[in-house]
Amino acid sequence: MTATITLSTGQQMPAVGLGTWKSAQGQVKQAVLAALDCDYRHIDCAAAYSNEREVGEALSERLGEGKPLRREDIFVTSKLWNTKHHPDDVEDACKKSLSDLRLSYLDLYLMHWPMAFERGDELMPRRLDGTVRYDNNTHYRDTWAAMEKLVDQGLVKAIGLSNFNARQIDDILSIAKHKPVVNQVECHPYLVQTQLVSQCWGRGLAVTAYSPLGSPDRPWVTPGEAHLLDDPRVVGLATCYNKTPAQVIIRWHIQRGVICIPKSVTPSRIKQNIEIDGQKVWRDAKHPHFPFSDPC
Ligand code: A2P
Repeated sequence: MTATITLSTGQQMPAVGLGTWKSAQGQVKQAVLAALDCDYRHIDCAAAYSNEREVGEALSERLGEGKPLRREDIFVTSKLWNTKHHPDDVEDACKKSLSDLRLSYLDLYLMHWPMAFERGDELMPRRLDGTVRYDNNTHYRDTWAAMEKLVDQGLVKAIGLSNFNARQIDDILSIAKHKPVVNQVECHPYLVQTQLVSQCWGRGLAVTAYSPLGSPDRPWVTPGEAHLLDDPRVVGLATCYNKTPAQVIIRWHIQRGVICIPKSVTPSRIKQNIEIDGQKVWRDAKHPHFPFSDPC
């Protein structure tokens, strides 16, 4: 059993989930099946990862009557992509993710980024010179109001943010009927996000770390670059505790009270990443939903 974090809605969100960003089509289905078969109960998805259909194939093989898991046993997150911020596009975008994932509801739906791109089906609309075509007429506050309707319709249990800073979170909170429950941001020992994590907790949002292992497979990695998983301090701790470097880092996230979503398409690593001893999440009376007031 993985530790869970209680969201402000009362939902229990497993502290470790399978990340699917960068998981290629042709590999992600086996990864999700491997994860569900070794007790992962949280899968992190997004329309922009262009692999939700394959994730859905895996989910449908394990969820439902006569299958090992019930829908309510797992926590599934998806994200609204930047080209779908216009309030008229939000419901269809959510329904597309639901249909690809073969689900009737999401546990959590995040606004992937605060900025809107030009409407349409091109993932990264660009000009000839390569610059992105933004939609400067759609504000994330309007997108949020459209996302709130998804909660009212029962399509999603909760909504949240990704890649938002404290000022932008406050902007959302100032108009929110349904408050954001999570902010998902890049976070790992090379980018600890001390201030932002505290700011999120202080505002009632849990934090999910993406790239929790430092994403050695990120597309813009430079060849020969030193990597977090090879950092002598991490390797030293791993040797000392008889764990792998990835396990040391995942344990750091959990112990700190930050939810993390390590991505892997390798069954042995998927298994290793959930086998974290002592998944104790420290709690503080001042922040009953969150692990502790000053984590860092
Ligand atoms: P792979 O998917 O080939 O197994 P992040 O979650 O920070 O984005 O990192 C994902 C990267 O880390 C992927 O390249 C993944 O490789 C690799 N990875 C995931 N788990 C482990 C592990 N336990 N040991 C080493 N590398 C891992």
